[in-house]
Formats: sequence, structure tokens, C-alpha cells
Amino acid sequence: AAPVIAIDGPSGSGKGTLCQKLARHLGWHLLDSGALYRLVGMAADKHGCAFDDEAAIAILAANLDVEFVAGEAGEPTLVLLEGEDVSGDLRTEATGMLASKVAVLPAVRSALLGRQRDFAKAPGLVADGRDMGTVVFTTAPVKIFLTASAEERAERRYNQLKSSGDDVNLATLLGEIRARDKRDSERELAPLKPADDAVHIDSSGLGIEEVFNRVLTEVNA
Ligand code: CDP
Repeated sequence: AAPVIAIDGPSGSGKGTLCQKLARHLGWHLLDSGALYRLVGMAADKHGCAFDDEAAIAILAANLDVEFVAGEAGEPTLVLLEGEDVSGDLRTEATGMLASKVAVLPAVRSALLGRQRDFAKAPGLVADGRDMGTVVFTTAPVKIFLTASAEERAERRYNQLKSSGDDVNLATLLGEIRARDKRDSERELAPLKPADDAVHIDSSGLGIEEVFNRVLTEVNA
């Protein structure tokens, strides 16, 4: 089986940037598992599903019609959900909230399991999520649990959303991040928590480069 680096942690811990950088550096595949939950959340919303209709949302998850269209040089990848360009909405906090609502449903999580595991191909995979090390890739040789204080994560998120033109407020964002942390860590199936064999890194006050080098040390160990 191809080697996997499993990187888990809460919203705004810097996982996304770190995983992209690692995948590019190593020439490995990248799994953004959060994007899958976001897409299921958007699909449920679009089809008017009630968020407790586990069976209906699991069917949407199992049949998720999504296409990633690589952009021209320098252009971002387009994400098509049922043929419709949803790239603009995929990363918003509202979509993050939809994602965390469908993510509590066990049938939805199991519907996405195979799809996630299919990403583990040669030469290797960098997997970004909440349960990569605890559920999806339990035998990954390298597991990282990346955290940072809620305040710092809200601030990073704020800058990130602001630069993409989103209308955001720092205090609101901090409240939303706390609500999402709570739902993600208190859910029954695959709650957000470090794997027993994960290396913990607190990225508060650390730059991207510092975290990257710290993780590379683990990969090369
Ligand atoms: O970037 P951010 O952490 O804000 O969001 P994300 O990684 O795209 O994940 C969005 C939501 O999807 C999270 O709040 C989780 O509820 C859910 N999720 C999950 O349950 N399991 C994963 N492996 C990834 C995301």
C-alpha cells in the first residue's frame, strides 16, 4: 500500500496550507477530506434535505457527482457539483457549518470512507482532515495533530476569508469556530481527537515554514 501522512486538527490550524505544501514538495497525492464533507453539505442544502434525514444525505454522499477541473497555469481548480461551478462557495464559513452538520451522521461518514481510501495511491498520499489518523488511515506511518488557540485560528480564518473577498467579522468567526469545534469533538462517530500515535504540533505563533520543517523531520525520521 502507498504511504500516507495523516494530518488532523481543528478549523484554522493551518492544515490546508501545510498539506498542499507537503504534497507539492513530495510529489504525492492530496486528499482534502473537508472538501468532500463541504460538498455533501452543499448538496443536502441544494436538494432541501432536512439535516437529520440521515438516509437521504447518505445517498447523496454515496452518489456525489463532483468534478475537479484543473485551471490554466496560475488559475485555481474549478469544483463542479452536479455540473454547477461551486468553487466560490466551497470555502465559506456557511459551507463549513453545513459540512459539520452532515459530518455528524454515521451513514454519511461511512458512505465517504471508500472514496477517501481510494486516494491512497503511489507514490503516496497527504491526507487532510479530522479523522485521517483515527479512522480512515489508521496504519499511516506518520500522523500529525495540528492545533492552535481558537483566537489565533479565528484570526487566520479572518485574513483568509477577507482576502478572498468574503464579508466577515472576527467576533462572529470566533463564535462559529468554537461552535464547529464543539460539534466536531463531541459527535459520537469519529470525533475530532488525536490518534494515540500522533505527533502533536501547536502552531500558535509558528510560521508556515516552521510547521512544514517540523513535519518534514517526522516524515524523514
Ligand atoms: O478548513 P476547515 O477546517 O474550516 O474545514 P474543513 O477541513 O473543510 O472541514 C469542514 C467540516 O467538515 C469540519 O468542521 C468537520 O465537521 C467536517 N469534516 C469531518 O468531519 N471529517 C473530516 N475528515 C474533514 C472534515
